[in-house]
Amino acid sequence: MRYRSVLDMVGNTPLVEISELSPKPGVRLYAKLEGQNPTGSVKDRIAKFMIEAAEREGRLQPGQTILEPTSGNTGIALALVGRLKGYPVKVVMPDAVSPERTELLQAFGAEIIYSPGDLGTNGSVALAREVAAQHPDWFMPFQYENPQNPSAHYYTTAPEILADLPEVTHFVAGLGTGGTLTGTGRRLKEERPGVRIIAAAPHPGDQVQGLRSLEEGYIPPVLDESVLDGRIVVDSATSFRVTRELTQRTGIFAGISGGAVVRAAQRLAERIEEGHVVCLLADGGWKYLSSHLWTTDYATIEEDVADKLWW
Ligand SMILES: Cc1ncc(COP(=O)(O)O)c(C=O)c1O
Repeated sequence: MRYRSVLDMVGNTPLVEISELSPKPGVRLYAKLEGQNPTGSVKDRIAKFMIEAAEREGRLQPGQTILEPTSGNTGIALALVGRLKGYPVKVVMPDAVSPERTELLQAFGAEIIYSPGDLGTNGSVALAREVAAQHPDWFMPFQYENPQNPSAHYYTTAPEILADLPEVTHFVAGLGTGGTLTGTGRRLKEERPGVRIIAAAPHPGDQVQGLRSLEEGYIPPVLDESVLDGRIVVDSATSFRVTRELTQRTGIFAGISGGAVVRAAQRLAERIEEGHVVCLLADGGWKYLSSHLWTTDYATIEEDVADKLWW
């Protein structure tokens, strides 16, 4: 393939069968590798959509500063888009995220404002709102409320899945802003009624970078809970273990939320007799090397205790 710009390389990610990780022969599992995007995560899709919509609608002027709260991936993606289009980017990020994120943000020229790590992404959102109030001339795309976040998935992620696997029966993705699940889920349900949409979520207080527990109090406005058919809670130790297994057994080098998603898909597979289950792996493993998860033996403490399903 030949591209005019790196921005044209966003999306069209590969779908790879990983049925060797399925507990049942009738349930086929597939991984959509969002780590193949230019900055290595699914967030390139929404960064491009949010910025290009703001440009079209005249809400973003040439050279205007962009400010965004993020656990890392959205900031890195915005930093790329901002750099190529001439907007300075500042991100508010918890100080507990992996050092690779800081380096990548700096590589793409973003400025980082740290929020207290123990307050997680909710702390970043609160601090970004304060900073935005002090700088009304800055533009905050705000992925948690921006309808272009689910739209990016409605118009790109879902059609790609339908083209590559028309027989899809289930879609499993991590729940962060809820943009991936809402946008992809809505379109899949329109085009293939009966498709089930399942969220992989962490325990309240447990950290899987990029994911959030709805029990922690903030329900992002972009999340349309009516699109979800189920939610499977996966603990972080299990996410680490399955992320490592994914690399060892399939050769896929994904980030930790990918381990949570595959584990959720395995739990789902235990409950159905047959199906074609798409697991969206939001990023690659590169940003998590400093966690040493591929070289450490993580015992699973109490596996998936709060496992919750409601269909
Ligand atoms: C690594 C990772 N996984 C999963 C997600 C969840 O995606 P979404 O925000 O679309 O719910 C995010 C984003 O927040 C992420 O950074």
